[in-house]
Parts: sequence; C-alpha cells; structure tokens
Amino acid sequence: MAFPTETVYGLGADATNENAVARIYEVKDRPIGHPLIVHISSIKYLEKWARDVPEYAIQLARNFWPGPMTLILPRTPLAKDFITGGQDNVGIRVPSHNVALELIREFESQGGLGIAAPSANRFGKVSPTSAQAVSDELSNYLTSSDLILDGGPCVVGVESSIINCTQDTPTILRPGAVTTEMIYKKIGILVKQNNEYIGEFKIKASGLLESHYAPAAKVFLSVNTQPGDGFIAYSSISTPKGTVRLASPKNNDEYANQLYQALRLADIKQLQRIVVIPPTNEGIGIAINDRLDKAAYLLSQE
Ligand code: TXA
Ligand code: MG
Repeated sequence: MAFPTETVYGLGADATNENAVARIYEVKDRPIGHPLIVHISSIKYLEKWARDVPEYAIQLARNFWPGPMTLILPRTPLAKDFITGGQDNVGIRVPSHNVALELIREFESQGGLGIAAPSANRFGKVSPTSAQAVSDELSNYLTSSDLILDGGPCVVGVESSIINCTQDTPTILRPGAVTTEMIYKKIGILVKQNNEYIGEFKIKASGLLESHYAPAAKVFLSVNTQPGDGFIAYSSISTPKGTVRLASPKNNDEYANQLYQALRLADIKQLQRIVVIPPTNEGIGIAINDRLDKAAYLLSQE
C-alpha cells in the first residue's frame, strides 16, 4: 500500500513478510540488497527492531519522533536481510502524518510489527509528494490488490534526515527537515556531517548514490537559461524571458514543499531542461541542495 507521510509518499509492506517486501522491489525496480526503512508508530516498538540503542539515540527519538528523522541502529533478529540488505543495521522511523500513524497503528493492532517503506517512486526517480504523483509514477506496476492511500500533499516535501546511530557519536547520512542545528539547539547533541563509512564497509544508502532524485529533464544549477527551459527559484527572482516558471517558493520550507512537484511538472510538460537557482544552505535548504546536487549529478559527468 502506498501511503502519505509528512516527508514523501511511501510504498509500504509488512516488514516481516519477505514476499510482501519483494513486491516493493519489483514495483520500484530497486536493486536487491538496498535497505528499507521500517516505520513504527511509537518509540515503544523500537526495541523489537533495534538493540544496543545508545543514549543519544534515545534522546533523538524522544525529541524528534514522530517526525522526519530515521535512525540507523544495530538490528535485532526481527530485521531480516531482506530489510537491511544484509547489513547488521536497520533504519527505523516514526512518521508524524496522521494517516501514516493511523495505518501503522491499525496494522500493529492486528499483530503487525512494522511497515517497510521506501519512497513510492521508481528507483532513482523523484519521490512523490501527492497521491496523484504516486499514481503517475507507479500505476503501471501496481495490481488491483495494491492500494494508494490519499492523505493530501506532503507538508515537508523531502525525505527524512537519516542519522547513523551505530557508533559512539551520531553522523548524518542524508540531510532532511531535522537538521544538525535543530538537534544541537534542542538537546545539545552534536551530529557530525555525512561520513559514508561505518567501520570497515561502505554504508548502503541510496541517497549516497550520486545520481538520484532525478527527473527525465536535465537539471542545471546555474543562471544561464534558454527559451523553453523550466525555471525554479525563490519568488523574489523574476522569471527569465521565454522560460516556464515551475515554482516560486518564498522561503526554504516552501522550496522543499514545492520542489519535487515542480520537477514532475517539467516532465509532464516534456521540458528538456530545468534551470534551478538553489536555495541558501539554511535549515532544510541543506537537504534541498543535497537533492539538487544529486539530480544534476549526471550532467557533470557528461
Ligand atoms: O522520508 C523518508 O525517509 C521516506 C518515507 C516514506 O519514510 N522514505 C524513504 O525511503 O526515503 P527510501 O528507501 O527511498 O530511502 C531510505 C534511505 C535509502 O537510501 C536506504 O539505503 C537508507 O535509507 N537506509 C535504509 N536502511 C538503512 C540501513 N540499515 N543502513 C543504511 N542506510 C539505510
Ligand atoms: Mg527513495
């Protein structure tokens, strides 16, 4: 079942059912061995999935759940290889969207232990932030027994912050709406910036593959526009002549909220290029710039 969260729509399946989880991989065309986030309704279910939870992770969970934050923790035997990609760690999140919470609670009341859900897009593509976007993206691959729960547009608009909690100190693996600054201000815990390695091996986070979050149109992070280009910038920046305005956010929160819809709109309009004037690196702007860099990455390789 595809369902709304405050970040993006997820494609959910019983996290203990290998066949159900296999369907996620099939529908997304996701490479096998890519770990999935397990969604639970409350911190009290954490111990089912994670062991040796450090004190700082408990503080993070208490202060930022339900919310747009995923914690990577050592797994219990419940988190099978088909969830963790064979790693000894599992990603856990308590989303704050009411429909997501209701869904997970209902599932738990029937004996469920968690819902595995990646973003409900084909692998490498833009995450959907509305039920319509999920349908546009996946309807060709869903069957009549698969459902899409419509909870309206996502408020945050970019995927959760992912924090690696498997070491003595936490590190950010994917920036999101919960920022290192917010964490430090609220609970005095210093989360270090992205290090791609846990001990000996490279951590598998698709956000760390370089080309990702990409529409079909080419994304340029520059000010040079051509007629017919899509254009995304703060509302204070006027639309260059001949371009198609795709979004005009007033601030970084609006920017995050509108970005993926704007990238999708470019594809619907069959534009070839999108010129983006990136936001400042403040607040959720860090996460937006991370995604924009990845959406534009392929070009720097050409
Ligand atoms: O906001 C979100 O996090 C959304 C909503 C639906 O919750 N979900 C989401 O899932 O973005 P996905 O699968 O598209 O991205 C999750 C990222 C992937 O890059 C995955 O590799 C990484 O989290 N991840 C999951 N479990 C992990 C683990 N045990 N170790 C390292 N990375 C992990
Ligand atoms: Mg994703």
